[in-house]
Amino acid sequence: AQLNIFAKLAGKKYFGSAVDNPALSDLPYKKILSDVKEFGSLTASNTLKWETVEAQRGVFNFTGGDEILALGRRNGQLVRGHTCVWHSQLAPWVEAGNFSAKELNKIIESHCGTIVRHYRGKIYAWDVVNEAFEDDGTFRQSVFYKTLGDSFFETSLRVARKADPSTKLYLNDYNIEGVNAKSDAYYNLIKDLKRKRVPIDGIGAQGHLIVGRVPNTIQENFQRFADLGVDIAITELDIRMELPVTPEKLEQQKKDYETVIKACKAVKRCIGITIWDYTDKYSWVPSWFEGEGAALPWDENLKKKPAYYGIVSGW
Ligand code: XIL
Repeated sequence: AQLNIFAKLAGKKYFGSAVDNPALSDLPYKKILSDVKEFGSLTASNTLKWETVEAQRGVFNFTGGDEILALGRRNGQLVRGHTCVWHSQLAPWVEAGNFSAKELNKIIESHCGTIVRHYRGKIYAWDVVNEAFEDDGTFRQSVFYKTLGDSFFETSLRVARKADPSTKLYLNDYNIEGVNAKSDAYYNLIKDLKRKRVPIDGIGAQGHLIVGRVPNTIQENFQRFADLGVDIAITELDIRMELPVTPEKLEQQKKDYETVIKACKAVKRCIGITIWDYTDKYSWVPSWFEGEGAALPWDENLKKKPAYYGIVSGW
C-alpha cells in the first residue's frame, strides 16, 4: 500500500506533500502528487506567502494558491495554508513602510483576514505565524516583534479565527521537533495563549532534519504539546544528507524517516505529516544548504528510495 493509506490506518488525518506551482507542468510528477493513496494533503510551498499574495499593499493575488486548492479538491486531498505572518519572503513594503504599531496591526489584520477568508471552509489548517523564535528560545527580532512585541500572535490568531472559524490555527517552526530551548518557548507561549483564551489549535514542527541526527525526544516533546491541548503536525519534513549519496547514507536515512514516523504514530494528537515536496527533483535543500541534498523519499527520477520504505515501516 501507499503512504497516505498507512497514515490513515494509523488513525492520522493525512500523509501529505508540499508542492511549488511551477512543478505542476511536469506531468509524471503531477500524477504521483495527485495520488490520494500516497498523499492526502497538499501545501503550496511558496505561492501563499506574503511576497506573492500581497506584493503591493491591498492588492491580492491568489492565482497560485487557488491552483493548489483546486488540484487538492479534485484529487480528494486536504490542503494546508502556508503562511500568514512570517519575516521571510515578506513583501518588502511591510518593512520599508516603518509603520507604527497601530498601522502594522491593521496591515496584519487585512493580510491574514483576507487570505484566510478567501479560503474559508476549504483549508484544513493554517500556519498563522511562522518561525517567530530563535533557536535559543528568544523572540525573533522580526518587524512584527520589533513593532508590536508578542501581541502579534494574538492579533493574527484572532483575525484568522474570525475569517474562518472552521480552519485549524497553527504556529509553525523548525528545530522544535525535540525538547529544547526553542520548543520550550513554544510550550510556554501556547500555555499563555490558552490561558488568555486566544484561539490556537496546533503546533507545526517543520521537520527539516539531517541524516544521522534525528532528535531522540520527539515523542516526549509531541506528547507534552498534546497534553497542553493542541494538535501536532509535522509540516515540512525532509531529512538531508551531505552529497554524494552513498548506499550507507540512504540506509541511515531510511531509519531516520522510520524514527520520525514512529514518534508521530505514538502520539495520538500528532495528526499528520507533510513532506516538503516528495522528490529530490524539486527539493529546496540543494539550493539552501551547500553540498547537501537527497532529502526526500523519491529520487530525482521519481523512483522510490529506501526512505520511502522507512516511512512504510514506521507506520
Ligand atoms: C522554502 C521553499 O521551499 C523554497 O522554494 C523557497 O525558496 C524558500 O522557502 N521553512 C518554511 C518554508 O516555512 O516556507 C520554506 O520553504 C522552508 C523553510
